[in-house]
Amino acid sequence: MGATRYQAMKRHGGFQIVALCDTRLDHMEGYREAKYQEWKECIDACEPQAVVVCTFNMAIPDVVCYALQRGMAVFSEKPPGRTLEDAVRMQKAQQETGTILKFGFNHRAHNSIIEAKALIDSKLLGDVVCIRGVYGKAGNSEFQSEWRNNPELSGGGILLDQGIHMLDLMCYLTDSDMHVINGEVSNLVWKEMKTEDSAFAMLETDKGQQISLHSSAIQWRHKFDMDIICTNGYIALNGLLTSTRSYGEESITYYRKDLGMKTGRLGKPKEYTMCFDEDFSWDIEMNEFYDVVMKGKELINGRPEEAVRVMKIIKEIYGYKQGDVR
Ligand SMILES: NC(=O)c1ccc[n+]([C@@H]2O[C@H](COP(=O)([O-])OP(=O)(O)OC[C@H]3O[C@@H](n4cnc5c(N)ncnc54)[C@H](O)[C@@H]3O)[C@@H](O)[C@H]2O)c1
Repeated sequence: MGATRYQAMKRHGGFQIVALCDTRLDHMEGYREAKYQEWKECIDACEPQAVVVCTFNMAIPDVVCYALQRGMAVFSEKPPGRTLEDAVRMQKAQQETGTILKFGFNHRAHNSIIEAKALIDSKLLGDVVCIRGVYGKAGNSEFQSEWRNNPELSGGGILLDQGIHMLDLMCYLTDSDMHVINGEVSNLVWKEMKTEDSAFAMLETDKGQQISLHSSAIQWRHKFDMDIICTNGYIALNGLLTSTRSYGEESITYYRKDLGMKTGRLGKPKEYTMCFDEDFSWDIEMNEFYDVVMKGKELINGRPEEAVRVMKIIKEIYGYKQGDVR
């Protein structure tokens, strides 16, 4: 992600990247900027105006809080630390220092999500009544030993790593907070792994909308699907454009209720589909960060309170776990 964010800053053109930091020098090979292996030394030596944090989850809160306390603006990757307490700590540091803190929930800036949000807000399809989301990936032979599945470094499994994006989208699209009705976090296949490979949750928004989430590391393929059912139609989001294109073509399909069946057969109505073949999400996020820092614009996406909101939901889902994976 460090490389992805670096490239987005370069494409933007308004950033002057003064230094890079990674505990592993070999991960910074080929870059011309000053290189550090210790983040505090890097921040102290360079005194940048802004810091972009893309480390393992464990390091995120310390780096974020330190930079904020030194008056620097911070863009940090999701998840906002390993726990709700981490997220609250960073939110407090932001409030106390009055500096800028944005978290990278880049899925909001995917084309299909931008269209879905506009469609929902237009009320063309009425009100959202329920959402069903599936976000799944395939683990490979190294999956069990990845840092993402070391609870010390990551804080949680697939729910915290990937499910968090979908939960954030569900809050964003309904413009609401959610509470958990039921949840199950389990190790269905990777039994030895210390973090979950599956999470199921039933949730309800503050507006009474019913939400279901299946977050999976045992889908054995990459999959992103979200069905948004509204009073007067539906929206189907399928696929998500990434650099590997492994989540399939990204599309949004919608149908406006037509009970008289003037526009199609019962059960197979006339739908409208838009497909996308470019992912601008990284650029949109960096652009927003730049505009907030340099032009004093209001931060809309990835606000600390949104980070706390989603971490509260995740904590609640983990709380439903039978046994003790975490
Ligand atoms: N927005 C997204 O869609 C998205 C996608 C993938 C990962 N992420 C997030 O980005 C972060 C990094 O994930 P990744 O996939 O790039 O992992 P990665 O393993 O590819 O890269 C992490 C890098 O951080 C370095 N690092 C770890 N601890 C450090 C420390 N204390 N100081 C300096 N460097 C340190 C590692 O050496 C490594 O080079 C995670 O928080 C992850 O959740 C977000």
